[in-house]
Amino acid sequence: MSKVKISPSILAADFSNLEREIKAISAADADYIHIDVMDGSFVPPITLGADIIASIKKHSSTPFDVHLMINNPDNHVADFAKNGADIITIHEEATTHLHRSLSKIKNLGVKAGVSIVPSTHEDTLDYILDEVDLILVMSVNPGFGGQKFITSQLKKIENLANKIAKTNRQIELEVDGGINDKNSQDIINAGANVLVAGSYIFGQENYGDAIRKLRG
Ligand code: DX5
Ligand code: ZN
Repeated sequence: MSKVKISPSILAADFSNLEREIKAISAADADYIHIDVMDGSFVPPITLGADIIASIKKHSSTPFDVHLMINNPDNHVADFAKNGADIITIHEEATTHLHRSLSKIKNLGVKAGVSIVPSTHEDTLDYILDEVDLILVMSVNPGFGGQKFITSQLKKIENLANKIAKTNRQIELEVDGGINDKNSQDIINAGANVLVAGSYIFGQENYGDAIRKLRG
């Protein structure tokens, strides 16, 4: 796959001025805007819902990459599709009938993504590869920004990149958690083509420079 895409996670943005942050990150040439939805059940914190996504959608034409860290996502995906999500990623660990949940997302006319936490084996995705547009490898345990990248996930990224190559389909391979300018190249070399970064990008003065450094 060609250019490496960067998806800044607004979890690390200034929530008191999301309009300014969304505009700034879009102008800084972000490829996607990564939005972390947490339910206080699948992961401890609660973040934001579809109403907030709808209210920031008008400030950017950059695609919204919505990462649902919620249990029973089937109950909510239609709401997120209607309110501005362009890609909806659910967790393999959060739904019993993953195949059905992914078909449901596709039927809403948005891209379907699946994510696995660090302890989940990549082979668990073997039977749903035809259903997804994106696979998200969590390189930290989900729930919080600012954690350290778990290096064992590099092997998982490599294995998934090989599986994807065999499908002859354009499945994006995204990695999320603990990414900065020191480890981004290793992650790209392992086969990732979309990097999510929150605290690294929003912690810099110049978002454009931060994004450029991550692309390698
Ligand atoms: C964690 C979230 C991440 C988080 C990444 O559960 O899914 O998207 O915002 O933050 P950093 O880049 O700070 O690890
Ligand atoms: Zn995320």
